[in-house]
Amino acid sequence: MRIVRTIDELRGALEPRRREGARIGLVPTMGYFHEGHLSLMRRAREASDVVVVSLFVNPTQFNDPADLEAYPRDETRDAAMAQSAGVDLLFAPGASEMYRHDATTSVVVGGVSERLEGESRGPGHFRGVATVVAKLLNIVQPGIAYFGQKDAQQALVIRRMVRDLDFPVRIEICPTLREPDGLAMSSRNVRLSATARAQALALKHGLDAAAAAIARGERDASKVEQRGREEMKMFRVEPEYFAVVSAEALVPLRTLSGEVLLAVAAKVGGVRLIDNQLVDVP
Ligand code: PAF
Repeated sequence: MRIVRTIDELRGALEPRRREGARIGLVPTMGYFHEGHLSLMRRAREASDVVVVSLFVNPTQFNDPADLEAYPRDETRDAAMAQSAGVDLLFAPGASEMYRHDATTSVVVGGVSERLEGESRGPGHFRGVATVVAKLLNIVQPGIAYFGQKDAQQALVIRRMVRDLDFPVRIEICPTLREPDGLAMSSRNVRLSATARAQALALKHGLDAAAAAIARGERDASKVEQRGREEMKMFRVEPEYFAVVSAEALVPLRTLSGEVLLAVAAKVGGVRLIDNQLVDVP
């Protein structure tokens, strides 16, 4: 595996392979890898001749400077893990390589980016995500790019951007990986204290309680939502949002039918966590 720091170096490494007709897979990440990241890399390894992983803690998508500062980083550990997953190129640029000091262009995806995380974290969050992902897609020009279902709204925003701007790439969304007790894997989990780690189960338990209410026949979205919130209270966790929305457009629902997304965000011991569950409502 080769670590590259500049866009020119990465393009130079990919060009001969592209000319040979090699299939290029991209896994965009912000590092501090866990099994969830590795599952995306392994998936890319199966389907591609060249696997590129980007490792860039993108400052423009953080609404809170303290959150950016506290975001865990360990490039040496990440490089060893990426190598073990069969990655060919680890693209780890600095911020000045990704953003020219006088850059004035950004990508705004309307509609689907405005709710949930967009409301909680502000409009800059998905503008930052869409812009950096657009740049990575242009730099690498992969046939397939891989993202996790844990960031369900991010996945929808990226799919919409790719569709609306005609990026010649397939977006593959891979399942959320969980710890044995159900906590969704996240780079942020390492920042949880022992108490907060136990409380963090509130998110998964809240989602499960809401999904169980639907399975019992509840179709009133507000009651399903209330059931999720009640369950979270048992862990003394107040969600930033607990939403029952349509899976495609993320619009709030009154009566449930079709594919529904249960989505939750909460700060637990000062660490912001998100999780979600798709439910097919007959
Ligand atoms: O999901 C992430 O890790 C980030 O939002 C992404 C897609 C790498 C963009 O910075």
